[in-house]
Formats: sequence, structure tokens, C-alpha cells
Amino acid sequence: MSDSRSSAGDAHSTSPAEAHPGTAPEAGADSASGVSRRQLFGFLGAGAAGAVVGAAAGAGVAVAATSGGAGAASPAASVYPFFGAHQAGIVTPAQDRLHFAAFDVDDTLDRDGLMALLTEWTDAAARLSQGLEVAEGGAVGGSDYAPPVDTGEALGLPASGLTITFGFGPGLFADASGADRFGLAARRPAMLEPLPRFQGDALVPEISGGDLCIQACADDPQVAVHAIRNLSRIAFGRASLRWSQLGFGRTSSTSTTQATPRNLFGFKDGTANVKAEETATVDDQIWVHASDEPAWLAGGSYLVARRIRMIIENWDRVQLGEQEMLVGRSKGEGAPLSGGTEFTEPDFEKTGATDAPLIDTNAHVRLAHPTTNGGARMLRRGYNFVDGNDSLGRLDAGLFFLSFQRSPQQFIDVQTSLARDGLNEYLKHVGSAIFAVPGGVAEGEFVGQALFA
Ligand code: HEM
Repeated sequence: MSDSRSSAGDAHSTSPAEAHPGTAPEAGADSASGVSRRQLFGFLGAGAAGAVVGAAAGAGVAVAATSGGAGAASPAASVYPFFGAHQAGIVTPAQDRLHFAAFDVDDTLDRDGLMALLTEWTDAAARLSQGLEVAEGGAVGGSDYAPPVDTGEALGLPASGLTITFGFGPGLFADASGADRFGLAARRPAMLEPLPRFQGDALVPEISGGDLCIQACADDPQVAVHAIRNLSRIAFGRASLRWSQLGFGRTSSTSTTQATPRNLFGFKDGTANVKAEETATVDDQIWVHASDEPAWLAGGSYLVARRIRMIIENWDRVQLGEQEMLVGRSKGEGAPLSGGTEFTEPDFEKTGATDAPLIDTNAHVRLAHPTTNGGARMLRRGYNFVDGNDSLGRLDAGLFFLSFQRSPQQFIDVQTSLARDGLNEYLKHVGSAIFAVPGGVAEGEFVGQALFA
């Protein structure tokens, strides 16, 4: 039996068209070659197909097929390489769906056990991101008398642009009592500390922190959830889920090829984000350099996660003009209130008829802008969430904010400036976490291997 999740002969498999009603039957076709992934697997074998498609994606081409939607490329067929200089899921184009998970390592785990877990996670993630099962024959090819190695809900689904990104929290280097469980204390990045308390924080410990994190992004929620579920399962007895978050819509673009999406306030979000094509800025502001401390983190980044509840019922009663004043951009076009179109640079000096600045002094974009923050930028990669409702009948909705930066100080500086942000009246930060994201993984290595060298 083929180990491809999309293998044609598998009675349990579902065609992309069946799995995504409404998508055109040719949704598995590779636009570059006109060959479907199913055919590719048939001709070349699954591993070769992954490599071919992955190589194209690595060259900066997100391999995608056209579907029925307004000339848009269907993301269903995208495959991103797992191995490379940097982990995928940072500058790769932000996918539509997220499952993010933070883990606590179990007290019984030792250094060898931690390395073994990271090795198994790496092997599984490398396969899953190529559209394969956790292991060959994982869901239905094993013994009738043993639980399947793969949980099976992604059988028949394509890779869907899945990226899996791993991070290490402060607790990996010293636990709450200060104990150095894994002999890593001396290698802790000095900046890897729980974030300081910011004005207005209403953090809930149960949805904050974590020793390890996994960010799974995909264009199909079932694929992202399958990845987290199976990686959590692999960790059983070694690390347990502390909290996890689903995101249903990206709130950022990370490539100039992507249209700017909208957040739950209805505004375009991601216009001024750092984009993959800005290679000098990415290098300067996102990747940790070998000359930074510590060297094992070179090629990596720092990831900040904030669960930001949006009080949307109150927001929905705010006049349009005030909403725009609070953000500093127009709601329709996303243009700065100083004039121009979406991608015009805001002019914070420009005044209107009353001599007041056209972009309010407390507007979000002014306070978050690099000119207010010593040039600090970040790559935002957050998602909208709605997790049911509270007892008052309000949606438990908001922005699961994720940002990658070369130093946590970049986030700290911007978040400190945002203390006077007019939007704060409609926001509540309830979850917070920080992770050091190791650089990319070479074949034959495990993620973060340099930390243990
Ligand atoms: C729910 C909370 C938030 C909402 C609704 C929100 C919304 C927005 C919107 C609509 C924009 C303008 C479009 C764009 O350039 O992307 C923007 C820009 C930005 N936001 Fe936020 N944001 C939120 C939280 C944050 C946080 C926590 C940070 C970082 C601490 C942040 C940092 C930025 C930055 C750096 C920009 C670009 C500013 C520029 O260079 O013009 N935002 N945000």
C-alpha cells in the first residue's frame, strides 16, 4: 500500500473535490505541469512527488492549482518543503487556517527523552507537511490488533500547504522552581523570558506560557488539526497539551502575492506587514543572526503569541468615522487617513481643516508604526478566532496574534507604545506566550539539534 494520504487505491480516501464540496475536480492539478498530485504519486512514488513540488515551492513558487474561485489559485495543492535554512510557517505565505498548541514537558522526561521526542516530531512533521501519513501504512495498514499509528482523518486530503513550526519556551531552560531539567540553562537565550506585564493585560495562566509550541498552518482546517492531534499523540507520556488555539481566517499577508485579509473589526489587516519579498528587512528584523546571542538560534526567530479577545458587540455600535479614527485607516480600502491608497505610506504630520493630524495621535497604526518604535518591525501571522460565546451571550471572538521577530524587544517596544491605543477599549489580552523558534532543519537532523550540541 502506498503511504500517501492521497493514494488513489485506498478505500478510505476522499478526492479533493469530495473533501471540499464546491472545488473543481481538477483541484489537485499542479499548475506548473498540469499533472495532478494523484498522478504524480502514481508516476513517481510519493516521496519523489513531494520533492518535486517542494523544490518548486522552495524556489519561491507556491505550487497551486486553479479552482473555481475568481481566478484565485487553489491552495489545496500547495506543498512547502519541511527542510531548509529556516523553518517553514514564517515567511511562507500565510495559509487560511491555524491550529496552534503549547505543551508542558512531563516531570519524568530527561534530556535524552526530550531529544527523542524532538526527533520523532521532526520525522512526523517532515512527512505530514508533504501530504503523507505519520508513518507508512499509518491509519489502516497496520495490525488489526494495535491502534493505528496515524489517526486517519486526513486520509485522502492533500498537503493543503501544511507547515509545522516548532518553538521552545522559557520553561525548557529552567522550570518554575528554577530547576535545569535538561542541562540547557546555560544555553538559554537571555531574551527568552516571559513577557513583561503590559497595561490592560488580563492574562489567564491556563492559556498562557508553555515549554514547547507547535504552529500548524494549512489551507484545510482538518489537515492542521490532524497535524497537532498526531504530534500530541506522539508526545504522550512526555509532553502534554497546556492549551491550544484554532484560527479560521488569516489576519495578515506575508507575501506581496497575497490579498490583504480582514480581521473581525472588519478592517484590512496586514497591509504594512513585513513581506517575504522584503528580503533585506526579513534578514535584519526577523531572523536571529549567528552573531546574536546564542549562536544555536541562528536562522531562527522569536515567536510571540497573544490571545486577544475583541469585544465586538461594543465595537459594532461605534460609528464608522470613529472606527477609522481609532485604526488610522479607511475601512473599505485600508488607505491611511492622510490620503492615498492601501499601500501609500501614512503621513503622520499631515493635518486637516482643524489643524489636527489626519491620523489621530492615538491611532493604532501611528502607535504601531516603526517611526514610533525606533524602527522596530515584525512579521505578523495572526488568525481570527471565534470560540463559542460567554455567559453574557457575547461571542468569545478575537485575534490570535502571532508575530515573529529577531528580538522579543521589538514586540515589547510596540506593545508598550500601544498602551494608549484607542482600540484598547475594545480589546482584552487574555493569553500570552513567547518561544524561541530554532532555525531550519537539515535532512537527518532534528529540530533544534544545535541546542543540544
Ligand atoms: C486585536 C488587536 C489588533 C487589531 C484589531 C489590529 C489591527 C491592525 C490594523 C487594522 C492595522 C492596519 C493594517 C496593517 O498595516 O496591517 C494594523 C497594523 C499594525 N499592527 Fe495591529 N492590530 C492588533 C494588535 C496588534 C498588536 C498586539 C501589535 C503588536 C504589538 C500590532 C502591531 C501592528 C503593526 C506593527 C502594524 C503596522 C503598522 C505600520 O507599520 O503601519 N497590532 N493592526
